[in-house]
Amino acid sequence: MRTQVAIVGAGPAGLLLSHLLHLRGISSVVLEARSRDYVERRVRAGVLEQGTVDILNAAGVGERMTREGLPHHGIELRFGGAGHRIAFEELVPGRAITVYGQQEVVKDLIAARLAAGGEVLFEAPAVALEGLDTEHPAVIFERDGVRERLEADVIAGCDGFHGVSRPAVPDGHLTVYEREYPFAWLGVLAQVAPSTVELIYARNDRGFALHSMRGPEISRFYLQVPPDADIAEWPDEAIWAELRARLETVPGFKLAEGPVIEKGITPMRSFVVEPMQYGRLYLAGDAAHIVPPTGAKGLNLAVADVRVLTDALAGWYAGEGDAALTAYSETCLRRVCRAQHFSWWMTTLLHTFDSDDAYGRRLQRSYLDYVTTSTAAATTLAENYVGLPQV
Ligand code: APR
Ligand code: PHB
Repeated sequence: MRTQVAIVGAGPAGLLLSHLLHLRGISSVVLEARSRDYVERRVRAGVLEQGTVDILNAAGVGERMTREGLPHHGIELRFGGAGHRIAFEELVPGRAITVYGQQEVVKDLIAARLAAGGEVLFEAPAVALEGLDTEHPAVIFERDGVRERLEADVIAGCDGFHGVSRPAVPDGHLTVYEREYPFAWLGVLAQVAPSTVELIYARNDRGFALHSMRGPEISRFYLQVPPDADIAEWPDEAIWAELRARLETVPGFKLAEGPVIEKGITPMRSFVVEPMQYGRLYLAGDAAHIVPPTGAKGLNLAVADVRVLTDALAGWYAGEGDAALTAYSETCLRRVCRAQHFSWWMTTLLHTFDSDDAYGRRLQRSYLDYVTTSTAAATTLAENYVGLPQV
């Protein structure tokens, strides 16, 4: 098999890249290890920056997002027995976020790829990448137990943190920057109307809690839990009790409860490789970088990467040379590293750390007070949260 761009992974990065390339007349084949059903059901984060919304709309895949997505103009930081609103409309006028589940974005992208005759091969895991430092790279993949070879001009590694693309780069070419956190997030999807209009980020001595949503009848919650927590230790009643303890901390707030549809535990990690490319391999999305979800940046970074990569590849195929491709990593990492800092900062601002002494906790409280009373500090949070302009 041969194509122009071989794409490993059908998450948001791989699917959107394939679609954006198609719109520029460039062919691609997407190889995905899992089934279509599995990737469409995988529950992930759900906050889209305006720049992400704009890119999805311009790509013609925004129709359902426009209909069902929830525009939000602020978030609440809840601590010390009170809620404090970060008002986007005042701090960053004209900029907002849209709450729309990542798996809905994935469904929309798969539908658009298939409607346009795009080739997305499910249950076709890549097992090796070859010839990355030649002009004829190839992906070896398996389909129905048979090994096949996909030849291409370039390979886009969009296979997430645990994929095969990043490890295919020979030793010594990538520098890793990373940080592990001493906690994980327990995520819960529940069939109940949200108890809040805007997202609540709650700092609590028992640990962080987040109240988000997916629509008028579906709520999404997260709880900070120990890094080795086992979902079997978290029956639904225990989850609701903990959510109540961490969220019902302001006068008059009562958490509505309902059946739990889905629950799972996600580790928290910060991770970046530099550069995001090697030879004819370009890494995008979680394959190149992971952020803790506190800043809701993961999906948005993946979208920004593939937008930059599409422009660079389109220029290269149009005979404009390889300057933009060569600059791909540097261009992306400016945004990625800003989001790395923001996500780390939001995480340390809102979580409890066993290692923190009384002094550390006092500083954290001081910073929370500052962010919610100083316009300058609140603007820093707001402009990063809604997303800095795309380059
Ligand atoms: N061969 C083919 N596909 C693979 C392989 C492989 N060897 N290994 C992994 N994959 C697939 C995964 O099954 C997954 O569908 O690659 C895809 C990667 O998708 P994501 O993990 O969703 O990563 P990405 O597309 O970069 O999306 C960005 O933003 O909100 C965050 O972490 C969240 O997934 C999200 C990310
Ligand atoms: C979500 O709705 O899943 C969500 C919202 C905000 C975050 C992380 C996840 O910071």
